[in-house]
Amino acid sequence: MLEGKKIVLGVTGSIAAYKAALLVRLLVKEGAEVQVVMTPSAKEFITPLTLSTLSGRPVLCDFFNSGSGAWNSHVELGLWADAMIVAPATASTLGKMAGGVADNLLVTTYLSMKAPVFIAPAMDLDMYSHPSTVRNVEILKGFGNHVIEAAEGELASHLNGKGRMEEPHNIVARLKEFFSVGEDMKGMKILVTAGPTYEKIDPVRFVGNYSSGKMGFSIAEECASRGADVVLVSGPVSLDCKHPAIKRVDVESAREMYDAAMAEFPSCDAAVLSAAVADYRPAVQATEKMKRNSGAMTLELEANPDIAAALGKVKTGRQRLVGFALETCNGEENAIAKLEKKNLDFIVLNSLEDKGAGFGCDTNKVTILTREGKSEYPLKSKKEVAKDIVQRLFRLFVLFFLLLLPLQASADGEELKAVVSLNASKVQGTNSEVFKQLEEALDEFINNRKWTSNTYEEVERIDCNFSFVVNSYSNDGSFDCSLMVQSSRPIFGSSYSSTAFKYEDKSIKFSYQQFDRLEFIEENLDNNLTAVVAFYIYLIIGMDMDTMGELGGSEFLNRALNIANNSQNLGDAGWKAGSSNNNRYSIIDDYMNGAMEPIRKMMYKYHRLGLDTMFKDAAGGRKEITEGVALMKKAYEDRPLAYFTKLFTEYKVDEIVNIYSKCTSDEKKSVVETLSNINPSLSSEWDKITKNNNY
Ligand code: PMT
Repeated sequence: MLEGKKIVLGVTGSIAAYKAALLVRLLVKEGAEVQVVMTPSAKEFITPLTLSTLSGRPVLCDFFNSGSGAWNSHVELGLWADAMIVAPATASTLGKMAGGVADNLLVTTYLSMKAPVFIAPAMDLDMYSHPSTVRNVEILKGFGNHVIEAAEGELASHLNGKGRMEEPHNIVARLKEFFSVGEDMKGMKILVTAGPTYEKIDPVRFVGNYSSGKMGFSIAEECASRGADVVLVSGPVSLDCKHPAIKRVDVESAREMYDAAMAEFPSCDAAVLSAAVADYRPAVQATEKMKRNSGAMTLELEANPDIAAALGKVKTGRQRLVGFALETCNGEENAIAKLEKKNLDFIVLNSLEDKGAGFGCDTNKVTILTREGKSEYPLKSKKEVAKDIVQRLFRLFVLFFLLLLPLQASADGEELKAVVSLNASKVQGTNSEVFKQLEEALDEFINNRKWTSNTYEEVERIDCNFSFVVNSYSNDGSFDCSLMVQSSRPIFGSSYSSTAFKYEDKSIKFSYQQFDRLEFIEENLDNNLTAVVAFYIYLIIGMDMDTMGELGGSEFLNRALNIANNSQNLGDAGWKAGSSNNNRYSIIDDYMNGAMEPIRKMMYKYHRLGLDTMFKDAAGGRKEITEGVALMKKAYEDRPLAYFTKLFTEYKVDEIVNIYSKCTSDEKKSVVETLSNINPSLSSEWDKITKNNNY
């Protein structure tokens, strides 16, 4: 994560300056380039020689180099750095930074700094708690600087208290955490195959190839650095991989690789198959070393399973599959044939005709081929090539989640997988045929219609329920129905699903005669039943998209809002603006109100970042959900009467109680407080969270 990052480390005159040596070492070990800048008084505590030796760069202290007279440009440093750390930061330096007192190179560098700044104060406890220090720290925070609070412990004064500079490894952890923010692949799980396979001939010989695993390992590391969980199934290579998010599975033969890949793929969002798998293995593997004979020898080979093709067969609509093609001639033609045969989403062609491409070397030259076209890339390091491939893969998901794919002539690619029912038991004794007809007409209307211009595959359709109950009916065709509408989305990597929306509309008044067709014209709403149903459909699609990408459902939510605005004259109380805080009009009006934007962001945090992660990493997922609850709190504070906030806590109550029954007391405290404010009528449920001591 810090690989290649350029860090300016500012060291000031504190007894804790000795820790700067360890800090430099740790940063360099992480792959960062470190430029140390010292204040004059820092030199009293640690020598520049120590820090320049560890960082591999001359330490800067003065405005001018005393030998050459050259200017040490703080402006250039400000542009060069990816981050600046001031550690230790004395009270005096904090004051100068806060007040803009630019009397040394460190402070001028700080004032010129374009990159984020981290400050780790160190001083005696009384100095640390002095109002002047407290104020300066607050000012610096207000500038957007990241203050790494001092730790408690024994101080240079032999007093005990708060003022010790945070330990260098914790500072590095904070920095890594910072650079990992925006990990756009968080919540995703990617399978990567890498390296060669060895197919045993006898105990000392094998059929293999020259793959080093470098390409596959770079892809695995790139995915992990973007926040994904990675399963790296690797053939025999001599590479290390240290990233904690990479689970490495070592295999030797193609059949072992096949077994591992098939076992892991169902829980993954995508697979990138860069391994050079042996297509054949010896038909017989000798148990003893084979002896040399005087004549020629024939080795009978049999076919190995094709891993890519097998994954292509079981791939679901939500999964993506990327293959490689290593060619020696007719590269594009062969690659396209493999793309089709193996049911890949795209294929990465590398050719041994290109110098510096393919096996073993640190570089590669690739062409990415899809069914729509190709992109050629110049010769790059395998790390850079991995970035291109992973970015390409990620784009497929963004397009998928936000459903920006253009419609590809699929006339009957409906969006919803709705269970539609109409219960007329309250009005028995009347013409039962009309109810059956209406149920069928509603089913057809909801399920067999294109509500968006996007492509939905069967597995991508949104699960939902439309359950109508007839409250009253008369033979002239006037109906009053209630409708329970609910939608759910899958939790990726699991067989569970979670409710994304649930609401009971108590009264929908409309007219329907047997054999009527259900007409719906968005620009001319004259049928209340179809206006209401279309409204809920757009709401469901929009909310589902809000769970997939932050604010991703705006287009469809705005359509729902338009229907609500344009239905004011249809004479149905559910549409009446301002008459109720919990009718269908107010739900969409609130949800799309700017003050409620945190709620929409919460939908993404809660579902995509929270629940989807939770299946693999309970604490990580819960953290995201807690942040989602904090967003809900903000929306509640800004618009306390909005009914949707309360509604959400109602249909999520069991899920939330379940999630928070196993968590830390801090987490419990924050969510229970928020939920009890938003929905006090469920206080006995929130109490269960507090009482449960499962953590
Ligand atoms: O490991 P390096 O030294 O860094 O080298 C990288 C690489 C050259 C190995 C890599 O860039 C590469 O091209 N990998 C694929 C090599 C290969 O076997 O290509 P292929 O054209 O034979 O196979 C096509 C695709 O099917 C590949 O995704 C392959 O993983 C897959 N395959 C092939 C055979 C098989 N039995 N099962 C498979 O899954």
